[in-house]
Amino acid sequence: MKNRASPNTYSETLLSRETLRGKYDDILGESAKHLEVLKSVDLFAKSSSTVLITGETGTGKELIAKALHTQSPRAKHPMVIANCAGFVESLLENELFGHEKGAFTGADWQHIGLFETASGGTLFLDEIGELPIRLQAKLLRVLQENEIRRVGGTEQIPVDVHVVAATNRDLVESVKSGRFREDLYQRLKPLHIHLPALRERQEDIYALATYFLAEEAKHYNQAAKTLSSEALLLFHTYAWPGNIRELKGVIESAVLFAEQNTVILPPHLPEELRTSQAPQVSLPDAAGPSFKSATAPEGSTLSFPIGTTLEEIERSAILETLARENGNKSKAADVLGITRATLRAKLSTSNA
Ligand SMILES: Nc1ncnc2c1ncn2[C@@H]1O[C@H](COP(=O)(O)OP(=O)(O)OP(=O)(O)O)[C@@H](O)[C@H]1O
Ligand SMILES: [Mg+2]
Repeated sequence: MKNRASPNTYSETLLSRETLRGKYDDILGESAKHLEVLKSVDLFAKSSSTVLITGETGTGKELIAKALHTQSPRAKHPMVIANCAGFVESLLENELFGHEKGAFTGADWQHIGLFETASGGTLFLDEIGELPIRLQAKLLRVLQENEIRRVGGTEQIPVDVHVVAATNRDLVESVKSGRFREDLYQRLKPLHIHLPALRERQEDIYALATYFLAEEAKHYNQAAKTLSSEALLLFHTYAWPGNIRELKGVIESAVLFAEQNTVILPPHLPEELRTSQAPQVSLPDAAGPSFKSATAPEGSTLSFPIGTTLEEIERSAILETLARENGNKSKAADVLGITRATLRAKLSTSNA
């Protein structure tokens, strides 16, 4: 992998990819915070105790849950995903624990629940913060006794599953407000992995963006596009509320908007990125000196790597000006010193 954290980071944390047991090739990032997450995966994958994964939306909770499974001795058995949100309580109960024939009107067959389906493997309880209070009590009993009882059944059935639970809620808050049981939280808490927000691991942004650019290139069977220093600077000033999922989506759309352009420029990015305001942020060393730029996100300078064609430069200047003028072609033409008709002609020949 090209992008590496600075040696300082390594010596502070004594962590590096090489010291990890698992390979985690599809889980990118070299920041100290991220390596600590991978270290926890190494350690917790050996345990049969419940693991709790928290973090904002799009930070990679499901990816980490899958890594916990593949690193565990249970990897040959299934990993089953149960989403605790978006189901009415009774349906979720049936999904998790199953039911016996005749358990309720319409229960014409016995139904095996996800705890039993996942037997020998891992059960990923996604969005556990949304689990209804009554089912929280039932789950706690299952975790303590390693036995379930199907809805309408009398028999206690032993289950052997490693439970991994995830949520983007602050469970401490949920406990305080009475939405989440304190005793269940205490049960989940000992093996806890918190995934940092993307803005808290800025030094990973470049590697992630480059990885997604390479994926897009593979998808379209073309050479990978690169990021302009201006685009990268915007990536570092934006807050990324949707985290890595959002970054991936931004790269996907930028590759489309860039069309034949080999470099991703600010006009190819969504408006919320182009208008993000935090110009004081300096780029971390991991991005390399060639990506340092004196250009503020809303500044008036465009810079191009050697090798950029005049046509590409003209096209970028037009698009950038248009973006700055909020799409107003008359104003953009004024700024560029050409007539509106010329601007229109240039836009249509360059497919801008
Ligand atoms: N470190 C990483 N390296 C590469 N891709 C990643 C990384 N972390 C997350 N992703 C990708 O980002 C996307 C979102 O990840 P994931 O679905 O695991 O997030 P999540 O925390 O479960 O989100 P949500 O709370 O919205 O369910 C996925 O496409 C995943 O593959
Ligand atoms: Mg998820």
